[in-house]
Amino acid sequence: MAENFKNKVIWITGASSGIGEALAYAFSAAGAKLVLSSRRVEELERVRKACPYAEQVKILPVDLLETTSLDKKTADAIACFGHIDIMVHNGGISQRSLVIETDIEVQRKVMELDYFSYIIITKALLPHFAERKSGHFVVVSSVMGKIGTPMRSAYAAAKHALHGYFDCLRAEVSPMNIKVTLLTPGYIQTNVAVNAVTKDGKPLGATSGDIASGLSADAAAQQILRAIAKGAYETYIGKFGAEKIALWLNRFFPSVIIKKAPGLIPK
Ligand SMILES: NC(=O)c1ccc[n+]([C@@H]2O[C@H](COP(=O)([O-])OP(=O)(O)OC[C@H]3O[C@@H](n4cnc5c(N)ncnc54)[C@H](OP(=O)(O)O)[C@@H]3O)[C@@H](O)[C@H]2O)c1
Repeated sequence: MAENFKNKVIWITGASSGIGEALAYAFSAAGAKLVLSSRRVEELERVRKACPYAEQVKILPVDLLETTSLDKKTADAIACFGHIDIMVHNGGISQRSLVIETDIEVQRKVMELDYFSYIIITKALLPHFAERKSGHFVVVSSVMGKIGTPMRSAYAAAKHALHGYFDCLRAEVSPMNIKVTLLTPGYIQTNVAVNAVTKDGKPLGATSGDIASGLSADAAAQQILRAIAKGAYETYIGKFGAEKIALWLNRFFPSVIIKKAPGLIPK
């Protein structure tokens, strides 16, 4: 598998922690050249230094909520090594609050970060991929991109939107040798719940048992590299647990999860 990534230039957002950090180590070990982005420069520098081939890793600070900066940031990312082979859209935030209580500004913020920032960067990068007749968009969605459960309306809405947009994009660009892989992780051991926004935008500040007992970020990264190497359209990432069963049940028997299997609904 490593040969698929040797000397490939890969831009990863959300690379300062969790899944993005684990992806940085896995891609670097496979010989890739990396551009790492997120807001916290010190954390990006820590990740860069810990990469097996740190000299092949560059840092590009990006705030995905500063959407007017993203065209320029995309040009800066291309300039790091002269081109980009793989774009990993991963940076983002989750949410934990009931619909009835959630401030509309929280709904907007999650959509802006988890959806609009991805499509702005994609549109900025697409002419580069088209000119090269090559490129791969990798999109970290979620099981919540396929189903809806309590307390996650903003997050599930943004993740569902990614599937609509990137499925359309794939249909448009696959004749140009441009690939699109959507990933739907289940529970992965990261700070995603700790950082999740609540009804008024404040972080939740605590993790959940489901995430604490989920797949390690390093193991998730290995599954993701395999999915990218295969050029998968859409792949579940995680343990064979309740969330994978919920995905399948929701597809074929959507009423069962709410009425008959509430234990599959995450707390
Ligand atoms: N862990 C799970 O169980 C799980 C399940 C399904 C999907 N996911 C998805 O996996 C992706 C990565 O999350 P994670 O689990 O690794 O959580 P995480 O540890 O909280 O990582 C989130 C990353 O996003 C970055 N980020 C947050 N706000 C940003 C902003 N405004 N601009 C730029 N970067 C920003 C953070 O970096 P800075 O703070 O440095 O900016 C951090 O690197 C997310 O898209 C999440 O929805 C996670």
